[in-house]
Amino acid sequence: MELKLAFAGFGNVAREFARLLLSRQQLLAEQYGLTWQIKGIATKTAGCITSDASLPLRDVMQRLESKNRLEGLPDTLAVKDTESFIEACDADILFETTPLNHTDGEPAATYIRKAFKRGINVVTANKGPIACAYQELQALAENHRVQFRFEGTVMDGLPIFNLQEFCLPAITVRGFSGILNSTTNYILTGMEAGRPFAECLIEAQRLGIAEANADYDLDGWDAAVKAVALANVLMDAGLHPRDVRPQGIRGINNYEIAKAREEGKAYRLVASARRTFGSGVQLEVAPQLVAFDTPFFNCKGTSSLLILDTDLMGEIALLEIHPRLTQTAYALLSDMIRIHEKMNCLPQS
Ligand SMILES: NC(=O)c1ccc[n+]([C@@H]2O[C@H](COP(=O)([O-])OP(=O)(O)OC[C@H]3O[C@@H](n4cnc5c(N)ncnc54)[C@H](OP(=O)(O)O)[C@@H]3O)[C@@H](O)[C@H]2O)c1
Repeated sequence: MELKLAFAGFGNVAREFARLLLSRQQLLAEQYGLTWQIKGIATKTAGCITSDASLPLRDVMQRLESKNRLEGLPDTLAVKDTESFIEACDADILFETTPLNHTDGEPAATYIRKAFKRGINVVTANKGPIACAYQELQALAENHRVQFRFEGTVMDGLPIFNLQEFCLPAITVRGFSGILNSTTNYILTGMEAGRPFAECLIEAQRLGIAEANADYDLDGWDAAVKAVALANVLMDAGLHPRDVRPQGIRGINNYEIAKAREEGKAYRLVASARRTFGSGVQLEVAPQLVAFDTPFFNCKGTSSLLILDTDLMGEIALLEIHPRLTQTAYALLSDMIRIHEKMNCLPQS
């Protein structure tokens, strides 16, 4: 089947995904019978365009990399903004990769709603809508008989949501704990090697893993929003980031880290969730002292870790070692393949 693809946001993640689309074009066609054409791209500053034909992906990327606007590409129509773009675009899947807003998930949540109402499936890498409006968006997708996939939102391409959906039928997730923020983990493990906090932070910024406003990492908000997204999907928690009071890593100094080290322990910023009496879910994000014989101790640098506590499979640990952008782009690719598989099974209207 040929899929018509559209993009709201075309920054680092979407461009890396576009590179995967090009490099895996033949494999997708041969292994899955999946071909694609690009029906439109919306950005904030480089314009929004749609096309009746297929947009030339390489030309689009070249234009954006040389800071040129998208309007003017042959056989395209310029649209005034992203909402009008979603109204106008003839697409099977919208890839939503606009920047995170952790307070209300907007404007991404609005884009996703609009797409669903037009019968367009959505893949997002943006955790804002999952943390702020997951239950509502999932119900809307079901009402409009479209698919909503978001594997890249929490741990890049590591299959967490797919693991639960496809590999753990009839399992209840009772809770989880994990190291979900790379910047703070990079700083804490750097300090273990005796380096000062400020130097480790600058290095994290240089590597491009820190948020534009690093306070968001340091104060535990990034980990909190990811934990809310996990709890909403895996535990049907119905939580919002405002329900969490994260504690960050600013209070931890090199002396405390060295002292912990002498005792065979280390500090990690741990996000955890557990069911409370009744049907509630309680989340906590705070630094914890972890012992050398735990998976937390050996999760270092930019790696991340998630331990699921399940009723029938006990504890399952997922460790992602030093992820790069390709992993997030792969999440979009795997979500696209899932949508394609399901579309192939459904009677076409
Ligand atoms: N980077 C990662 O490693 C990573 C990993 C997992 C998840 N994510 C999530 O993935 C999303 C994208 O990340 P990124 O690194 O690709 O960000 P990015 O490089 O900053 O790209 C964001 C893109 O969104 C566009 N944009 C901004 N506001 C828009 C709007 N209202 N309508 C349409 N387009 C809009 C920007 O356009 P302009 O360039 O014109 O401003 C840009 O093309 C974020 O939600 C992020 O949290 C990122």
